Amino acid sequence: MRLGVFFNPTGHHVASWRHSGAQIDAGINLEHYVEITQTAERGKMDMIFFQDSVAVRRANIEALSRSAQYIANFEPITLLSALAMATDHIGLTATASTSYNEPYHVARKFASLDHISGGRAGWNLVTSVQDAEAQNFGREQHYSHEERYARAREFAEVVKGLWDSWEDDAFLRDVESGLYFDPDKLHTLDFKGEHFSVKGPLNVPRPPQGHPVIVQAGASEAGMELAAEYAEVAFCSPNSIEVAQTYYANLKGRMEKFGRAPEDLKVLPGLSPVVAPTMSEAEEKLQEMQEMIDPVVAQAILGTVLGYVDLSNYDMDGPLPDLPETNASKSTVDELTTMAREEKLTIRELAMRVAGARGKFVLTGTPSHIADFMEDWLTNDGADGFNILPPVLPASLNEFVDLVIPELQRRGLFRTEYEGTTLRENLGLKRPISRYQ
Ligand SMILES: Cc1cc2nc3c(=O)[nH]c(=O)nc-3n(C[C@H](O)[C@H](O)[C@H](O)COP(=O)(O)O)c2cc1C
Repeated sequence: MRLGVFFNPTGHHVASWRHSGAQIDAGINLEHYVEITQTAERGKMDMIFFQDSVAVRRANIEALSRSAQYIANFEPITLLSALAMATDHIGLTATASTSYNEPYHVARKFASLDHISGGRAGWNLVTSVQDAEAQNFGREQHYSHEERYARAREFAEVVKGLWDSWEDDAFLRDVESGLYFDPDKLHTLDFKGEHFSVKGPLNVPRPPQGHPVIVQAGASEAGMELAAEYAEVAFCSPNSIEVAQTYYANLKGRMEKFGRAPEDLKVLPGLSPVVAPTMSEAEEKLQEMQEMIDPVVAQAILGTVLGYVDLSNYDMDGPLPDLPETNASKSTVDELTTMAREEKLTIRELAMRVAGARGKFVLTGTPSHIADFMEDWLTNDGADGFNILPPVLPASLNEFVDLVIPELQRRGLFRTEYEGTTLRENLGLKRPISRYQ
């Protein structure tokens, strides 16, 4: 089983920043990140992951000012470089956008991080989603879905090409002969595409891993094609084993046409575990977090999920009104409307439910209950492992590492020592051969 951990500064629960188990200024607290990364490494986890967007999230200011997520925190590659110095084994992965970067910059930064960390870097390739990001880079609107995935494909091609600029043994540094590098082992990419024109070579030697590990999380048709061609780790958010199995088979089934084997890509669904020694304690813990959700925040999240509808003029303790047709996911709107009608939920009750679980598979239980669940998905082709989303940081990560990982190890499902020195070796991924060899 492969295990990543997704660090949202104070945790993934929307109210985590108000919880006593959270580091309240986590977004800019280096000691906090050192502590949680070392905890994950103590648990022998494969990798840590930082999401990224290049903008402050847009929302109504009253709700925004009551949230801690996606607002203000360290730039992740800078942070990972610091964490490389405080750890020895764990993989260090972060997002960089293909819409608001140049491929040369991304190739250079992750190659540098790979050298700094001794082969532990990973790049989460995303196309970005918000107009707020576009508006920081000279555009009014974000690229269309089609265009951003076309750019992303070229971007990945260029980055991989640049990483091969130097052969592994290009640098002779031979004092006797006076030859610093072998000129035959330097390659110029000369890429000219529709979106990028990049001559190269890269001014960083070939990374220790050959290429840092490429992570991707696209869920659309174009996103899954990109993952099948380039990704070595895929994040996803299925909400049942059936959905997970379908995604797993679909994604792995697309790889052959790109000359890749299914084991060249590890599928890691997200899982947000609320762990306690007994089921009732775990449920109480979740309830305690739910009670900390600010109704203003919950109302804004519900409005967003329902297709950016403004719910502020409705009575929070009244029923959900009939909603106008919007561009939102129709299935989500139908599902929530039906749930609200059937269970006679008020707007407030529905909002709390949606805000607490937003986009996450929240699993409440004892260590053995959580391990049963993970084992089931792993052994039934639903997952190659999980991306753990601790609801509160550092508290929930400590509990996962101290209670769930030993249970997984007892069952022989998870390592007790790191297998290799690089992220690639620990994930069981091949080292890419240079395109020039
Ligand atoms: C675990 C996980 C992490 C993600 N991290 C980011 C991120 O850091 N930045 C970002 O813009 N999108 C992020 N995404 C969104 C995806 O990259 C992608 O845009 C989304 O899944 C929709 O895919 P689609 O455009 O192919 O429909 C993440 C998704 C998942 C599941």
